[in-house]
Amino acid sequence: MDGPAASGKGTLAKKLAGHYGLAHLDTGSLYRAVARDILTAGKALDDEAAAADAAQSLESGTLNDPALRTPEVGQAAARVAKIGAVREALFKFQRVFASRREGAIIEGRDIGTVVCPEADVKIFVEASTDVRAERRYKELMEVGHDISYEEIHAQIAARDEADRSRAISPLRPAEDAHLLDTSDLGIEAAFKAAVKLIDTAISQA
Ligand code: C5P
Repeated sequence: MDGPAASGKGTLAKKLAGHYGLAHLDTGSLYRAVARDILTAGKALDDEAAAADAAQSLESGTLNDPALRTPEVGQAAARVAKIGAVREALFKFQRVFASRREGAIIEGRDIGTVVCPEADVKIFVEASTDVRAERRYKELMEVGHDISYEEIHAQIAARDEADRSRAISPLRPAEDAHLLDTSDLGIEAAFKAAVKLIDTAISQA
């Protein structure tokens, strides 16, 4: 599953993993963790050697760290995600995860295009920028962040632009991806639509 920031793919991927009894990997948390580790080490986000080092020595046990979920770390993640050596190190981690025999639900920006081009089912989750900003704003308010809707909107638009226009592995739907627009869908409706896509694809395989 791929899609832009706050498109709903995270919630959807978790729910689908529960439904199909599969492991789930949120690859955005890998880029976020690399950004966190560079910042904690007091290095610059565009220091390619430090970034490569952080990606190679990533501790998978730290991926649930709540500190990864802040807007600042999200912005920082998009900066390190442009670095080839970071993507290469994380590619290996993702391929190991994807190679489990029973399969997995993996979500990110380049899963259908680069990480798992052979995936049985690819879903590209979209939603309008206004809807995504609204969702992220509500999430952040719930955990007590002090940020305005306008700031979130601007950050999401800027991060989309950075993710779509970067030279390596830009955000885009794979040619064989199913598009799922969740702008007017609640989580249950989006989940049902995704299950239908997956079940149909599997029955035709
Ligand atoms: O999905 P999430 O918002 O946590 O991702 C944070 C950032 O990590 C994205 O904006 C993107 O720059 C980067 N990313 C990526 N490739 C992925 C997943 C995330 O470049 N597969």
